[in-house]
Amino acid sequence: MIPVAKPSLGVEEIAAVTTVIQSGMLAQGPRVQEFEGAFSRYCNTLHGVAMNSGTAALHATLVAIGIGPGDEVIVPSFTFFATASSVCMCGATPVFADIEEETFNISPDSLEEQLTGKTKAMIGVHLFGQPFAVRPVAKICEERGISLIEDAAQAHGAEYHGKKVGSFGVAGCFSFYPTKNMTAGEGGMVTTNDPALSERMRRFINHGQAEKYLHTSIGYNFRMADIGAAIGLTQLHKLDAFNAKRRETAAYYDKHIDRAGIILPENAPGVKHVYHQYVIRVTDKCRLTRDQLAIALREKGIGTAVHYPIPLHRQPVFLEYAKKSRCPVADTLAKEVLSLPVHPLVTDEERAYIAACINEVT
Ligand SMILES: Cc1ncc(COP(=O)(O)O)c(C=O)c1O
Repeated sequence: MIPVAKPSLGVEEIAAVTTVIQSGMLAQGPRVQEFEGAFSRYCNTLHGVAMNSGTAALHATLVAIGIGPGDEVIVPSFTFFATASSVCMCGATPVFADIEEETFNISPDSLEEQLTGKTKAMIGVHLFGQPFAVRPVAKICEERGISLIEDAAQAHGAEYHGKKVGSFGVAGCFSFYPTKNMTAGEGGMVTTNDPALSERMRRFINHGQAEKYLHTSIGYNFRMADIGAAIGLTQLHKLDAFNAKRRETAAYYDKHIDRAGIILPENAPGVKHVYHQYVIRVTDKCRLTRDQLAIALREKGIGTAVHYPIPLHRQPVFLEYAKKSRCPVADTLAKEVLSLPVHPLVTDEERAYIAACINEVT
């Protein structure tokens, strides 16, 4: 089976982890600090705060900018659950905006429609590795005095008009889950240019400690460990090569998949897409339904996935917040999307086989 996602780990990661184990320093130590410096430099921001997940990165950011009960935070309806659950973790209310059909990313028009006097922030998601429309979104945020947070969990190394994601908002939140464009086993990072924000986050993820055993607020243990940071540092050195391979495979699919009713992902002008996922749309003009195509490909040894089958405004846990949300594009795309293998370990032969199988069965 060609898996739809697979981390690319080698002898370098094994050596890096072995060095940490031999040092005896297993929890947070020098590797985490090194990783924070290297990753924030890569994103062209002044600070990086490492954590144990991308969810913690979103949660810590929201708390550090002062989001709490009574506040509304606008998020796109079509994204991973944690983009919105992190808002609830602060006691605030997630508000769901629709997406653009062409990019799967938040629609600036829908964002504007969802603004109220209670809106304090919005989380823009660079979904599937493609930056959202940062300029129009940032303009709305600036005019309305709300904070722009980037959820860059799926977009390490992606660029918007030549600038890396994670450097546009008050904070950029990354995940290092194993299937992401780079991994640290598990883990997350917030990039920011605001030293006070980064200090508040450091406290929040370490039991609210201002100094050892002096606790000035309630915090969590959301720290990254040195073993994870050692993997992350090694992966960061490989990230540009990983992304180049993903983009090459995507370009191959763009050129070779060609069937009625299948819509290939669009690359918006001025963005560098890093294809965390290569997501096709299987519309009702296709001979097979999306689910039939997934089964047909599985029978041919090709793994696929649906990101995401239920938009957030339809999730049982969010229904109480979604009464005023209309997200017809998210509703439609949730029924059509199918992710194909695009990870860096997909070989030239495999991608040719995948494209040929899709053309053959549809
Ligand atoms: C868009 C998005 N946001 C947030 C997260 C949460 O990251 P993590 O799984 O590291 O907590 C993910 C990870 O799956 C994600 O894809």
